[in-house]
Amino acid sequence: MCGIVAYAGDKRAAEIIYSGLEKLEYRGYDSAGITTLSGGEFYTVKRSGRVCRLSKCLEDMRGATGIGHTRWATHGEASDVNAHPHLCGRFAIVHNGIIENYAPLKAQLAEAGHIFLSQTDSEVVAHILDSVYDGDIIGAVKKTCSRLKGCWALAILCKDFKGFIAVSRGSPVIIARGNGGFFAASDIPAVADGADNYCVLQDGDVAMVERDECKIYSAELKPVSREFMPVEREQYAWLGDDCSHHMLREIRSNARTIRATCQKFPLAAGGGLYERLRGADKIIFVGCGTAYNSALAAKRLFSGAYDAFIEAVIASEARYNPPAVTDRSVVIAVSQSGETADTLKAAEILKEAGAYLVAVTNTGYSAITRIADKVLPVCAGSEICVAATKSYTGQLACFHLMSALPDYARRKAELLKVADEAEKLAADELLSLRIAELCVSSRAVFFIGRGGDADVATEAALKLKEVSYIFSDDYPAGELKHGTLALIDEDVLSVVIICDECLAEKSKNAVEQILSRKGKVALVTTIKSVSDEFSGRVSAVWLLPPVPAHLSHFLSAEALQLVAYRAAVLAGRDPDKPRNLAKSVTVE
Ligand code: G6P
Repeated sequence: MCGIVAYAGDKRAAEIIYSGLEKLEYRGYDSAGITTLSGGEFYTVKRSGRVCRLSKCLEDMRGATGIGHTRWATHGEASDVNAHPHLCGRFAIVHNGIIENYAPLKAQLAEAGHIFLSQTDSEVVAHILDSVYDGDIIGAVKKTCSRLKGCWALAILCKDFKGFIAVSRGSPVIIARGNGGFFAASDIPAVADGADNYCVLQDGDVAMVERDECKIYSAELKPVSREFMPVEREQYAWLGDDCSHHMLREIRSNARTIRATCQKFPLAAGGGLYERLRGADKIIFVGCGTAYNSALAAKRLFSGAYDAFIEAVIASEARYNPPAVTDRSVVIAVSQSGETADTLKAAEILKEAGAYLVAVTNTGYSAITRIADKVLPVCAGSEICVAATKSYTGQLACFHLMSALPDYARRKAELLKVADEAEKLAADELLSLRIAELCVSSRAVFFIGRGGDADVATEAALKLKEVSYIFSDDYPAGELKHGTLALIDEDVLSVVIICDECLAEKSKNAVEQILSRKGKVALVTTIKSVSDEFSGRVSAVWLLPPVPAHLSHFLSAEALQLVAYRAAVLAGRDPDKPRNLAKSVTVE
């Protein structure tokens, strides 16, 4: 959801910022731009489309200080003119977030003679800065922020200051040291190549950053110090492997994620978590997208483990229609990034209403960790592909362990075994390719399952549509006959997941119903007898290793992640950067 990078140091800024923006493209790739500062002059290049469109324009950009942006369009189309940085007088800015009151501000400024070039909300920030500036830069920043509503991560250049200014209010900013100077960025991957350590700006912080010095102030402009931590480079270094896309590399890291999450869990799980869950009147999961889908699986796992009323809710719904909670309720906010605006808001509202807030997140320094009472880490490492894969797997592993408290050693052993199977599965090419070909040659794809298999179907349908743009949807197998069967014909593929022995007979009925209407079927199952029964009668059968039903989602979900990946590649899409999407959705 837009990425910002800034640098002040002893090297040419343009190339350093460009390289940082490349690493942040997962946050948006509608347009990109860089402004550098040298001798009191700005050098700016901005283009619609991907960051690589800037690469041929860097040579003439002078200066060892600069700011850059990669955009996920919210206000105004993806065009050169709407690309950041936005300039006005002595200021240039890049912005991640939304200025909610930009329209009245813009009207006031326009009346005072300001001419706006873009349709963005962000441009008002540059104009306000310029209009309130009287030689006191930090004072102008404070005055400007006091007029804004919404959320913002800003990097600002002023012609009268050799460095840059970074501001965080509701959108993330890290400050990092290294490569002959200081950086600011939306996320660590942007700086992981060159930085040695970093700190996270707290809400409202303003950082005045120069080559040799970084001064951080609170919103009231009182000097504050923030703890610098080492950058764990190995997490961000994508070693020379044979993966052509992040998505494939990340699916292949599912096994590692399960193991790492198991390893870290004991450190985080103490402190009365079990007692909270056991004594809870309600356990409510909130999340968006894939994180919500993993919460569906969590709901099922927890239902057998705790007496509380258990629900999974979509965060964007919960923030306006929050479920009733008490001080005995536990809310579990699920978020890979820990920055998703809807999840943060829903979590905040439920916490204010009295609930105990647990964050299950892959990002240890994220906003959700700052408001949570307890943080449980998902140890997927940095996830770059917009479509979540290994973080989903890590969330599942974390929920398994939480549902097996207080004595989770047996579950941990089961998870470690399933991780070995997941590792072998990820090496498979043939079956995923066969089912992917069927997807690509179909008008639509339905994913069907019962019980836990229905939760996997939900995630599989999301994965396929987001990376391949093939229409796909999910149904509990028994629901098919209540409407969707009307859509089944020879151009429609149904991917049927059957991994629960107890429900297999029922799901087999759904396969028969589809076949008798001449629909195509691909079967994904852990059950040999089911595979034998349908081999030769359906278009493809993927027989997965025979793991117990409660663990099968690790394998069926991974198999269908691979299918989605291969379908995207076959359809000529870029699986890492699907159109119109962004990884970290920090606006409503
Ligand atoms: C976006 C991403 C999804 C992700 C969702 C929630 O929509 O494209 O892949 O599942 O946000 O993100 P979070 O970081 O909160 O898990």
